[in-house]
Amino acid sequence: MSGIIARWKSRLPVGPRTPIVTLGEGATPLIRADRLAARAGLKSGQVFLKLEGCNPTGSFKDRGMTLAVSKALEEGARGVLCASTGNTSASAAAYAARAGLRCVVFLPKGKVAAGKLAQAVMHGAEIAEVKGNFDRALALAVEAARAKGWALVNSSNPHRLEGQKTAAFEIVEQLGRAPAAQFMPVGNAGNITAYWRGYRELGVRPRMFGWQAAGAAPLVRGRPVDDPKTLATAIRIGRPVSWEGAVAARDESGGAIGAVGDAQIVAAQRLLAREEGVFCEPASAAPAAGLLKLARGGRVPEGPIVLVLTGHGLKDPDAASRQRPRLRRVPARGGLRL
Ligand code: F0G
Repeated sequence: MSGIIARWKSRLPVGPRTPIVTLGEGATPLIRADRLAARAGLKSGQVFLKLEGCNPTGSFKDRGMTLAVSKALEEGARGVLCASTGNTSASAAAYAARAGLRCVVFLPKGKVAAGKLAQAVMHGAEIAEVKGNFDRALALAVEAARAKGWALVNSSNPHRLEGQKTAAFEIVEQLGRAPAAQFMPVGNAGNITAYWRGYRELGVRPRMFGWQAAGAAPLVRGRPVDDPKTLATAIRIGRPVSWEGAVAARDESGGAIGAVGDAQIVAAQRLLAREEGVFCEPASAAPAAGLLKLARGGRVPEGPIVLVLTGHGLKDPDAASRQRPRLRRVPARGGLRL
């Protein structure tokens, strides 16, 4: 059987009676990004992209969701609940459908990318639209989970982070060593916490660089942001639940958490698409924007660097439609000179 539980069972909290709910997540590609490396003034073979958009629902969330939903089923829950900026809800909806569980998702009104919403709808999740941002939606989901006795599958669920740490195991296996540094987007801060746990379990210490959007950068400012703003809706979060985990990953690894502006994020997303052939969603381009920012200051760490591209570009088609392609009209019987 495929999937991260089958692959990493001995390192995960599962037993012989855990019913495994999987869509074959994990084992995502790690590819070289030589053009991006050149743009950052680095050598060929120094920069790698971990394509987490290749997971079954198009984001890294599936790694944690397979475990969280399997454990919910094992523990007899009748349903799962979450708040989400989109990807968690898409993943929860898919794995709940596969498990035969009900799924309720709390989404910030008007701030969830179209592809993610389409997934939650298609998988039959019950959608609660919250007039407020993600942080408010999460507070409501926590309350509802407590009242109903259902499993909350946000990253505060310990099984989510356990599943997500397997990406660190894969990277070390694929590179044949630990990277010198890892760059990744940070929103609710669960994923950076999970990666650091995975690396620590292997006894390695890549420097962890987290990137937030400038308008939603509580960890950079050192205090919560009441009204987070960014077009990278996945990381539009002002009160990260795993705050302490992110700070520990940063400080114990000798890394940093920085901010990049929306214009830098959009430029990096476009560069990855046009020069590397990789279409990721805006939030996932934040690490590439961060790399270019450090390069401008001559502050890029030495050695292999892995950028985690957390979600697929098709998640957020509206972000791409801002690009205004040059269209040429061709009559049905005409030709086109290129
Ligand atoms: N990248 C993408 C594509 C995401 O969807 C998220 C978070 C992150 C990065 C940040 O990860 O929260 O662990 O620091 N999305 C959550 C959601 C909040 O609801 O889908 P984090």
